[in-house]
Amino acid sequence: MFTNGHVDGADTNTLLNRADEVQELLTSIQKLIIPFIRSADEDAATKHTGDGLEIPSGGPRTTLVEHYPPRELESLLDLQIPQERCGKDGLLELVSKTLKYSVNTWNQGFMDKLYSSTNAIGLVSDLLLATLNTNAHVYQVSPVLTLVEKRTTRFLAELFGYTSEHAGGIAQPGGSASNSTAVVIARNNLYPETKTDGNGSHRFTLFTSAHGHYSLEKAAQMFGLGSKAVISVPVDQLGQMIPSELERLVQESKARGETPFFVNCTAGTTVLGSFDPIPPLSAICKTHNLWLHIDGSWGGSVVFHPHYRSTRLAGAELADSIAITPHKMLGVPMTCSFLLGRDMRQFWKAMKLSADYLFHTEHDSVADVFDLAELTPQCGRRADAFKMFLALNYYGVQHFSDLVARAYEGAEYLLQVVKGRKDFVAASPEPSPCLQVCFYFAREGRLGSDEAWNGEVTAKIANRLISRGFMIDFAPGPHGKFFRVVVNGNTRKGTLDGLVKAIEESANELGY
Ligand SMILES: Cc1ncc(COP(=O)(O)O)c(C=O)c1O
Repeated sequence: MFTNGHVDGADTNTLLNRADEVQELLTSIQKLIIPFIRSADEDAATKHTGDGLEIPSGGPRTTLVEHYPPRELESLLDLQIPQERCGKDGLLELVSKTLKYSVNTWNQGFMDKLYSSTNAIGLVSDLLLATLNTNAHVYQVSPVLTLVEKRTTRFLAELFGYTSEHAGGIAQPGGSASNSTAVVIARNNLYPETKTDGNGSHRFTLFTSAHGHYSLEKAAQMFGLGSKAVISVPVDQLGQMIPSELERLVQESKARGETPFFVNCTAGTTVLGSFDPIPPLSAICKTHNLWLHIDGSWGGSVVFHPHYRSTRLAGAELADSIAITPHKMLGVPMTCSFLLGRDMRQFWKAMKLSADYLFHTEHDSVADVFDLAELTPQCGRRADAFKMFLALNYYGVQHFSDLVARAYEGAEYLLQVVKGRKDFVAASPEPSPCLQVCFYFAREGRLGSDEAWNGEVTAKIANRLISRGFMIDFAPGPHGKFFRVVVNGNTRKGTLDGLVKAIEESANELGY
């Protein structure tokens, strides 16, 4: 076996043999990961039957996952931290176990959360980042990756209609991070003294729809505003923020002596996938001097498709900042998120501080900032933009437009299938705002008035589906918890047919 040159007895004149060690490990690991991915590919052919490939209903083993409750899995895995190294054989055993009990997101049946598997280039790009293992904080140590990030964010900013020479963005470790960074940038720009003096006597308030993501409350807690500072704006039947309600709540907040400063407009809400209307919200923000941020963590990626860009994101260029998280909808590996800005001078103003031990270059313009950590809360930064950049190059931009179109087609298809079945009650707006399809199982379409019961039916069926090779989530709905199925651009119609069949059969088995 090869070792990495740091083991006992390696003297300074001995050649390092890390390259050989990596080659040996990669070759061995490849023999495990390729069958793992292949099993999901093969399983796709039988998905329409509504049963996992390996064991017809009853599981627990399917190519999606062999799932156990935490304590049972803990004893099955028997995880140890040994004093002595376990070597290659021990490593391969650990990797095999990890693959065996992990969720195989390459599997078509994975429709549980707002992300799906990566793809071939995603896997390769993560490997390359690990190989380079550099820090995208300063240009000195990540010259290529810094330029890649600048180019990629500029490209994405332009897609949203940010065309000024000052437009751009930064990579952030997830949608929550993009949103919370936007909050700080907004506060530090609108109330510059807060950057050094803190929130002072201001009682800042932020506004987001009743269906907005919790990251806004988290941000308010982190930045000393308190989660009560986040004011929830009612939504209409489609789950979209009601502009007149925003106007009313802003005025009421001002009347209480508070300082409204930030409106979060969600493009693709977490449960229903609704898009808040941007132009009327922008008009309110202009009247009251509020920062308009678009949380497009989920739905922002539809910007790649002209139809969905114009119907879901009209007016996006009016916002001050936009979050987009390609690791959710576009098959880029976790994590990959960007905070885009109409004017990067605002990002710089908000984030810049002197740290002579790291930032050694003075500039007059943000365009000359190549030490990107000058613009971000993070110091150590993984060069996540590289993953988006490689995917854009390898597949081409058109691929992402097609991916979005196919995903919408799948979501629409499932919604229509659900609507056509007598034992289902659809709960998604129509046409599908985004890629989630929400519905209940209810015999003859008769939903009970007992929300807890409806929710129990949903949860029990969802749980049973795992042993059939389908993973879907549920969320609180108008009549108790409903299913939330997340379709992606690679989901086949046969998979969706299989899912509906599996739900019906599971309901029969459970006696519902
Ligand atoms: C609308 C919305 N915003 C933000 C987030 C947070 O993104 P992340 O999980 O990358 O932090 C999510 C997560 O699903 C989301 O749905």
